Amino acid sequence: MTTESLEARIERHFAAGAAAVGDAAAMDAFLELRAALEAGTLRSAEPDATAPIGWRVNAWVKRGILLGFRIGKLVEVNGGGLSLIDKHTYPARTFTPEQGIRVVAGGSSVRAGAYVAAGVVCVPPMYINTGAYVDEGTMVDSHALVGSCAQIGKRVHLSAAAQIGGVLEPVNATPVIIEDDVLVGGNTGVYEGTIVRKRAVLAAGTILTRGTPVYDVVNNKILKATAEMPLIIPEGAVVVPGSRAVTSGHGKEMGLSVYTPVIVKYRDEKTDLSTTLEDILR
Ligand SMILES: CC(C)(COP(=O)(O)OP(=O)(O)OC[C@H]1O[C@@H](n2cnc3c(N)ncnc32)[C@H](O)[C@@H]1OP(=O)(O)O)[C@@H](O)C(=O)NCCC(=O)NCCS
Repeated sequence: MTTESLEARIERHFAAGAAAVGDAAAMDAFLELRAALEAGTLRSAEPDATAPIGWRVNAWVKRGILLGFRIGKLVEVNGGGLSLIDKHTYPARTFTPEQGIRVVAGGSSVRAGAYVAAGVVCVPPMYINTGAYVDEGTMVDSHALVGSCAQIGKRVHLSAAAQIGGVLEPVNATPVIIEDDVLVGGNTGVYEGTIVRKRAVLAAGTILTRGTPVYDVVNNKILKATAEMPLIIPEGAVVVPGSRAVTSGHGKEMGLSVYTPVIVKYRDEKTDLSTTLEDILR
């Protein structure tokens, strides 16, 4: 089966809307797509040197992932045979499919449809959602989240509680992309299709969204997302959480300042030393 014919089948079943529910052919196409995502042979977004941002979104793959949600039905999920012990007066609540509540498998969990390469280290609790791609040698530390369709490069360190947002819809939207050798510090958040180029360092507590201007004090520039382009953190940038004064209106009168990420430097030997020390923790 070629990629093209799988693409055509996914598009047809996606376009069928509710009619795809219970259709065995739609399920076959979805399972084939899911297996290819897990094998890493298909991706929701992939590097493309000819594209303006260096990455191409495969919208049909994202539509295939959405198809999987549409045709999926609620079933009881076994907890993976964990041994759990707690006060008998407070057992975990149980639910039935009829209650219509979804309790997604948790603790540490990698959802079907995610690709995880050899050498990736997953420290509990963490979660990798469907459509995500996590490349070789990456560390996904405690409480880290890799959202749906997020693309994580090689040897990335996603530190404790790093939140990498998912972008499944709209299907043409670029997911969050973290390129090779990036250090994402503890408690950071990268959302809304932001791209972090190779070897960049996001210091603990940095938050990046489409609406967050980033002040590059090295090059005297302000980096922002536009209608056409996501926020892009340049290669090797070291971004730390900062603040800036509000310059107009009541905010100025009241002496307020707002959070802003600041590029304080580009990676140097000292940064390499700081991040190598982190590597020893692996
Ligand atoms: C960014 C980081 C790697 C330091 O990089 P570095 O290249 O060694 O940075 P430097 O010490 O040269 O600092 C450069 C400037 O940024 C400032 N800075 C560094 N880290 C900062 C931070 N986290 N917040 C605010 N400012 C910071 C420094 O004060 C310095 O400013 P100055 O020149 O005005 O004094 C480190 O601060 C960091 O955040 N590491 C990640 C820690 C983490 O999350 N670990 C997770 C383990 S699970």
